[in-house]
Amino acid sequence: MTTAKIIALAGSLRKDSYNQLLIQAAANYALESGAEVEVVKLRDLDIPMFDEDLEAQGTPQGVQLLKEKLRNADGILLASPEYNGSFTAALKNAIDWASRTEQGAVPAFRNKVVALYATSPGGLGGLRGLNHVRDVLSGIGSLVLADQLAVPSAFNTFDEQGKIKDPDLAEKVSNLALQLVSVASKLK
Ligand SMILES: Cc1cc2nc3c(=O)[nH]c(=O)nc-3n(C[C@H](O)[C@H](O)[C@H](O)COP(=O)(O)O)c2cc1C
Repeated sequence: MTTAKIIALAGSLRKDSYNQLLIQAAANYALESGAEVEVVKLRDLDIPMFDEDLEAQGTPQGVQLLKEKLRNADGILLASPEYNGSFTAALKNAIDWASRTEQGAVPAFRNKVVALYATSPGGLGGLRGLNHVRDVLSGIGSLVLADQLAVPSAFNTFDEQGKIKDPDLAEKVSNLALQLVSVASKLK
């Protein structure tokens, strides 16, 4: 079984994003298991708001980069913040851009195995948003794992170094990351 290539991404543009911390933790576990892992920060890609007129002028550099990374990956670790019961506009915007297919190219999300995570300060941990992101990604050909993890009380979850404080939670984060690596490696 060859090892999977994984990209880890959070749907937040915020510098101190809890979801970025969560997906970094998941990425570390995937890396320890032997997978090739790259953490991508949406903020660094500087993706403009999708507009077909803008698209007609050429694909922005950050979008090209994201599409390349997605096409090269077998699996995606995705942490999705919840805004008003759904996922963020920033993540939807990135998905919309990346879902556009050039002539002859493989759709960027097609056949990617996805593990969904969320965290929020609230009691449901962003669970409601995950239903929406699951629906959208499944609709564009991704294979979203049935298991997912929503972590409540985000402000209590990480220590000053950004590490998960509770060992039981860390194990859950790890288990889902390892499941993604295992399934993505088998389907590679
Ligand atoms: C516009 C807006 C709407 C929000 N709606 C929700 C919500 O529906 N459920 C929730 O749990 N948190 C909600 N929050 C709080 C976010 O979960 C919180 O800001 C979180 O830290 C965002 O994730 P991040 O830290 O990764 O950026 C909302 C925040 C904003 C700015």
